Parts: sequence; structure tokens; C-alpha cells
Amino acid sequence: MSDRELIRAAFRARERAYSPYSRFQVGAALLGEDGKVYDGCNIEMSSYGATNCAERTAFFKAVSEGTRSFQAIAIVGGKEGEAVSDYCPPCGICRQVMMEFCSPGSFRILLGKSEEDYQEFTLEELLPLGFGPGNLK
Ligand code: THU
Repeated sequence: MSDRELIRAAFRARERAYSPYSRFQVGAALLGEDGKVYDGCNIEMSSYGATNCAERTAFFKAVSEGTRSFQAIAIVGGKEGEAVSDYCPPCGICRQVMMEFCSPGSFRILLGKSEEDYQEFTLEELLPLGFGPGNLK
């Protein structure tokens, strides 16, 4: 699975966003260690706080299906009805979920404007000194 293909999967997932309140559509594609891809979109609720981000949708799908090791995630987001024009960084809660299941130094986070135009970070770069499972040992 190439970076381009992962970003393409995130764009496809974005088409399924349920975001009638913010009208901001996010798609994510999470690559498991085994090469399987889990898609996710944001799912909003009329009680706004119950909304789930695209990234967490992808993680919860994967974990509930038995995958707990991951290589990378591609994220794309932007206003409904418009082409994606900015990078969409993951929110703090989603970074913490990544910290639960991913290795901070090697998990790759791809923020795409298009399949060709994307920025790449490690989890450690986006969540320095993160608190994770290792801190409870
Ligand atoms: N959103 C995501 O899906 N991922 C993020 O990391 C940032 C925000 C969603 C949540 C909400 O449905 C909409 O974008 C606006 O905040």
C-alpha cells in the first residue's frame, strides 16, 4: 500500500462523512501492520459532544475487528461542497487514541490536500512527551 493509495482511501471515506452540523467532512484511512486498511469518517450528533472524529472511527473499527498494530494513517478534511484546500491535523483526543495503539517514533501521520500534496509527521512530532500505556507499567 503506497502513501498515494492510503490518501486515496481517505478521500473515499470522506465522501461518507455524516456532518450535517459543521458541514466539515473528514476522511481517514488507517493502515494496519498486516497491510489491511480501515476507513473512517466523522460522524456528528445533534448532541454535539457525542460526535466521533474520522480518525477514531477508523481506530475503533480496527480494534473491534482484532487489529491493534498500525503503520500509518492518512487524513483529509475540508468544507462540504469544496475541494480540500488545507491540511487537516488530528485533534488532541485522536492523537491520544493513536498514543494508545501506536509507536510514537515510527507511526506515520499523512495529512493530505491531494494524493500528491501531503505532509508527513510521526506521532511523536504531533504529540511530544505523550502519556501512553508505558507510563502505567
Ligand atoms: N474532525 C475530525 O473528524 N477529525 C479531526 O481530527 C478534527 C475534527 C471532525 C469533527 C467534527 O465532525 C468536524 O470535524 C468539525 O470539528
